[in-house]
Amino acid sequence: MATVGLASYREKWREAPRGSDTDGRIFSSELLAMSDDVFLSTWQAMASRRYEGELGWLGTLYFDTFRDRNVAELGSGLGFDGIRFIERGAAWTFCDIVPDNLAVIRRVATLKGIAGRARFHAIGDDLSFAALPADYDAIWVFGSIHHVPFEVARREALDLLGHLKPRGRWMELVYPRERWLREGALPFDQWGKVTDGERTPWAEWHDVEKVRSRLLPAPLRTVLDFEFCSHNYRWFDLVYAADEPFRIDDYDVRLLSRKLDLLAASPHLETGARQQWLGKGIVCPAGMFARAATIDLDAPLRALVDAAASLPGVAVDVECRVTRGAVGIGLVDAGGAYLPGAEISVEEGPDSRLITLRAVGIGLPEKLVVRNLRARGRSRFALVKAELRPAN
Ligand SMILES: C[S@@+](CC[C@H](N)C(=O)[O-])C[C@H]1O[C@@H](n2cnc3c(N)ncnc32)[C@H](O)[C@@H]1O
Repeated sequence: MATVGLASYREKWREAPRGSDTDGRIFSSELLAMSDDVFLSTWQAMASRRYEGELGWLGTLYFDTFRDRNVAELGSGLGFDGIRFIERGAAWTFCDIVPDNLAVIRRVATLKGIAGRARFHAIGDDLSFAALPADYDAIWVFGSIHHVPFEVARREALDLLGHLKPRGRWMELVYPRERWLREGALPFDQWGKVTDGERTPWAEWHDVEKVRSRLLPAPLRTVLDFEFCSHNYRWFDLVYAADEPFRIDDYDVRLLSRKLDLLAASPHLETGARQQWLGKGIVCPAGMFARAATIDLDAPLRALVDAAASLPGVAVDVECRVTRGAVGIGLVDAGGAYLPGAEISVEEGPDSRLITLRAVGIGLPEKLVVRNLRARGRSRFALVKAELRPAN
């Protein structure tokens, strides 16, 4: 199996966050050098700050959910969450790329007499979790794999997902795009220095679609998706909505997506030439909800229906850049009505956005429509690409 170089990430994260966001970080080797008494009281003081601070709601929400359950944590740091849930009856597997971080947690668990409910996995450069069982009730990812580039995180996440039970949960804390915009829209290899200190190699914003596309083609349903702490954090709680454990080989990759040829699709444009689809941008007609473009989905949809054994729903992934105002990108049914919940608004911003429109259990869409979402003014956008695929 191909390996990735995690050395720079290990070097950074041997210094892990203390209990609260405002408390800074501590080297795990520094903790390990302490006597048992000092070690445990230092760890406990940090943990208490976490439980009483901005993350206290995690216990209120999940103590009952995790009692007598088996949870794997990806990127467990100094183990504050896992130890807390073990003390309330969970069994917890701590996974991390830094062996010293795991050593801290092992020592805490031993000193607290709860080591029997703890398991440890040092993640190697092969990003494999093959040594772990395949019956986890939940996977807990708290601010960890958003610190490696998307493709690395995807490999890791898909491997661990194969160890989740059907109907199990994927829970994750990320940094939202809103924070990235507020802090200067920096390249991801620079932004980490702002969010997590000078030595941080990477930090990447996520929304629920990015998390879902990282786990594509696994079917996931959203239980919770909210931002907290002034848009500093975003929390997702997703269900793996299948009756069989996830195995990538069960999916026929040929069926995964069909590119919508934006030119050949002959979009109906109220303004400008067809070539504008290729990047220069389209100016919407004036007026709230004024349609700027329509793409017929009929032909690619028929190809997808012919190729798929069953098609419970479809999704359209759209990459779009909005350079003025805001647009709504949505799906329309055969009767010309917007499909409920199938419009996503995209606002002006410095980067292009990847959004996913889903039609699951509500009939197949007939058209993709882009419309103006500014009551005053004419929004401007460019579609970079659009792909139709079976919904996950
Ligand atoms: C910001 S800390 C969060 C730690 C802990 N979850 C918490 O909330 O305190 C990031 C943790 O993720 C780990 N980590 C970084 N990259 C990782 C990766 N690719 N896979 C797994 N863990 C990773 C680091 O070693 C570190 O322990």
